[in-house]
Amino acid sequence: MIPRTILYTGKGGVGKTSVAAATARRCAAAGLRTVVLSTDPAHSLGDVLEASLGAEPTPVAEHLWAQQVSAQEEMERNWAAVQEWLGGMLMERGVNRISAEELTVPPGMDELFSLLQLKAHQEAGEWDVVVVDCAPTGETLRLLSFPEVARWWLEKVFPQRNRLLDAARPFARALLDVQLPGEAVLDEVNRLVRNLIAMHEILRDTSRVSIRLVMNPDRVVIDEARRTFTYLNLYGYLTDAVVVNRIFPAEVGAYFGAWRERQQTHLREVEEAFAPVPVLRAPYFETEVRGAAMLDRLGDAVFSTGRAEALLHDRVSERLEVGEHEATLHLDLPFVQRGDVALKQIGLELIVRVDGQKRTMLLPPGLADFRPVGASLCDGGLTVRFTAAARAPQEAARV
Ligand SMILES: Nc1ncnc2c1ncn2[C@@H]1O[C@H](COP(=O)(O)OP(=O)(O)OP(=O)(O)O)[C@@H](O)[C@H]1O
Ligand SMILES: [Mg+2]
Repeated sequence: MIPRTILYTGKGGVGKTSVAAATARRCAAAGLRTVVLSTDPAHSLGDVLEASLGAEPTPVAEHLWAQQVSAQEEMERNWAAVQEWLGGMLMERGVNRISAEELTVPPGMDELFSLLQLKAHQEAGEWDVVVVDCAPTGETLRLLSFPEVARWWLEKVFPQRNRLLDAARPFARALLDVQLPGEAVLDEVNRLVRNLIAMHEILRDTSRVSIRLVMNPDRVVIDEARRTFTYLNLYGYLTDAVVVNRIFPAEVGAYFGAWRERQQTHLREVEEAFAPVPVLRAPYFETEVRGAAMLDRLGDAVFSTGRAEALLHDRVSERLEVGEHEATLHLDLPFVQRGDVALKQIGLELIVRVDGQKRTMLLPPGLADFRPVGASLCDGGLTVRFTAAARAPQEAARV
């Protein structure tokens, strides 16, 4: 069974590592076997826990282990053998018509490999709770779309690999002096892609896995968190809480009075924007969050109303209703304005574009004969209506 898995993300410096460590300590204190892992090469998780961590889980307290995933090690274990081959494929993209975008190693690829640890932890079956201190928002977002690209690649390209390689080989040798690797490397790629898809499935298990957005009550930070929230919904990941960290308490007095007022306004906006997702809060402490006592103070504040490991919200952002001649797909897409969404259906694939982000959804086979006939945005959601193909006008719908 997938352990209760909580991923913390948010803009740089908002308190992700602190809140992740505080959550893990609280879960462990409740008697749950907990591992907290970080992929940040700056080793801040070890500093916060005041422990020296390694690439494998290290015990740091009763029921609590911590792990500083080594991106480099994960890269070498999963990727080194295929890197050369991918480079070759890229250089021959004119031949095989695969765009560079799909095959370039994206920045943050190392983070992706680090997240494969989630799959390892699931298979180990040792943990009740896995807490992940993720990279800042931008990086994480790029990673989220990769398994869908990988699935596309596996289904569309991989079955034809021999033909593609045969076509590419003479060009590779004659023009680029690239030696294309053989079957063994391709099998390794195949295994990797399947691993990534499995990880994606783990992340989408909304009964066990959720993401929490950490933010501060500042304009720029909140705006970025809202964008992240939209994309998480688009990818089908569950956000079960937002954490507003570093709120000035009343004790700050007159000197910070104006700041406090502005923060209170922002807090109200956060409540409205993310509702019905619960908003957890932590004050700006007089000292940095480091060591067991401070972490537990932070944990007490954030989880004053509930258990840290609880699934605090369980709304699934995609819903599909299929009738005899009509079907309706509803996607929760908070903050998306009219005009930002474009749809296209090719076979069973529905492509939704929101502000330059693309999501390819595989519709259930029951919708094979349906075509999108309209889409509307309302109540923070996108509703796509389908009609049986014979009745529908052709092709794409635009909002
Ligand atoms: N509620 C708080 N009160 C006071 N200081 C805090 C609070 N939360 C976090 N801090 C401090 O703010 C700094 C940044 O916190 P942290 O390292 O947890 O952020 P982060 O989001 O993980 O940063 P990065 O993006 O660099 O990984 C740290 O020095 C931490 O001790
Ligand atoms: Mg951090």
